[in-house]
Amino acid sequence: MLIDLFYLLSICCFILGLKFLSSPRTARRGNLLSMAGMFIAVVVTLFEKQIIDYTYIVAGIIIGGLIGAVAARRVKMTAMPQMVAVFNAFGGAASALVVYAQFIRFPTLTDPATTITIVLSLFIGMLTFVGSMMAFGKLQGLVSGAPVVFPGHKALNALLHLIVLGAGVFFVLNPASHGLAILAAIVVLSGVIGITMVLPIGGADMPVVIALLNSYSGLAAAASGFVINNYVLIVSGALVGASGLILTDLMCKAMNRSLTNVLFGAVGQETGPAAGAAKRNVTRYTPLDAAMMLSNAQSVIIVPGYGLAVAQGQYALQEVAELLKKAGVGVRYAIHPVAGRMPGHMNVLLAEANVPYDMLKDLDEINEEFQNTDVVLIVGANDVVNPASREKGNPLSGMPILDVDKARSVIIIKRSLSPGFAGVDNELFYDPKTMMIFGDAKEMLVKISGALKEEI
Ligand code: TAP
Repeated sequence: MLIDLFYLLSICCFILGLKFLSSPRTARRGNLLSMAGMFIAVVVTLFEKQIIDYTYIVAGIIIGGLIGAVAARRVKMTAMPQMVAVFNAFGGAASALVVYAQFIRFPTLTDPATTITIVLSLFIGMLTFVGSMMAFGKLQGLVSGAPVVFPGHKALNALLHLIVLGAGVFFVLNPASHGLAILAAIVVLSGVIGITMVLPIGGADMPVVIALLNSYSGLAAAASGFVINNYVLIVSGALVGASGLILTDLMCKAMNRSLTNVLFGAVGQETGPAAGAAKRNVTRYTPLDAAMMLSNAQSVIIVPGYGLAVAQGQYALQEVAELLKKAGVGVRYAIHPVAGRMPGHMNVLLAEANVPYDMLKDLDEINEEFQNTDVVLIVGANDVVNPASREKGNPLSGMPILDVDKARSVIIIKRSLSPGFAGVDNELFYDPKTMMIFGDAKEMLVKISGALKEEI
């Protein structure tokens, strides 16, 4: 049948799209191909099933396209993680709504394979929707970013899961008896589980939960594909579910956490700045001092972080790196896997400024090199270089960091002494070999490159 050929075509687009997304060079192509695949799948389904007429299809494409285009133009690069959280939320909600509507249309859907997938889709879909909105709130600063736990938290969580399980089993055994009401109860309770699941996760562990929710949104879509008998939805959902799980595993490894530890551990409580931090001495440097120090070094490692993205200082930073290279200084970039606010954030940011890929070194590659390095230039990074991760009892404990404190000297550009995303004070600022340059990253880098141009 023609529709099957179109479905096959869109599935090929998804698979090739994912393949292209695995490298920054081809990621743009991968995105376009996946979008084309989804467009084909949606339009073909609507035509074939004759669910709605052309006018609705065209109106939907125009309205949806406009919202997407405005969001893509207006949402800043630094707000992408929030946007991803909202996308995950909508994916989960859409799957749950499709399944609920299907049961309203066909209350005679009573075979166990279908009823089980209805329950699964509603449970995972709603948990993903509410959990992702909570994650959005945490990333946007609307909800406290710190782990929140209350007495009896784990017991409540276990109880909610048991009630949902009981309701699900009851529905599967008696779908005709109060089916819609039981499904509505599952929807509400799954939403509450979404809240209790994300509340205790905070600080540096947010990347893990976002990747996991991304995977859940795919699993919910795959489950709803079984309910409405649409295999392109099953395949695309399974692809998102599987790639999300791989990403979750990578994030867990980057944070040196097990998934159970993140989900049930509530690692670290809120940690404010250390008492008396403001009274301690730090060494202040000017951009001019930094330019002199950098140009006299033989080896420099640059550590970019979230603040570089906020300041949009990537072009100025690359100019500094190029000037140093011209002066014969060995320059490399050290990229921590969770630097920034989304996987690959620093790679994307630096690719924008045409930083050659061979200058980018990941944590395992570069950590041994710090001890032989003259100067480390840290730009807007904090948690990924915070030695507190080597101690116990704080939200960063156990997370592998870039061992910048092993270098001969360290220059840090940031605006103040305030802590990073995880809220843990950073002893590196007070280290005698650390020089602090207080100010906006882009502004300071422009001044450093100006001074370098005069010097070299
Ligand atoms: P952070 O620890 O968040 O530190 C960024 C630093 O940048 C802040 O301390 C801030 O200090 C500084 N900053 C902000 N705006 C600046 C500006 N305009 N100019 C100069 N500095 C500026 O960043 P990081 O080291 O990249 O670590 C990332 C953190 O985010 C980790 O805890 C990670 O777990 C978490 N996280 C990561 C992801 C992913 S997947 N990457 C997702 C969610 C959360 P001042 O205010 O003093 O300037």
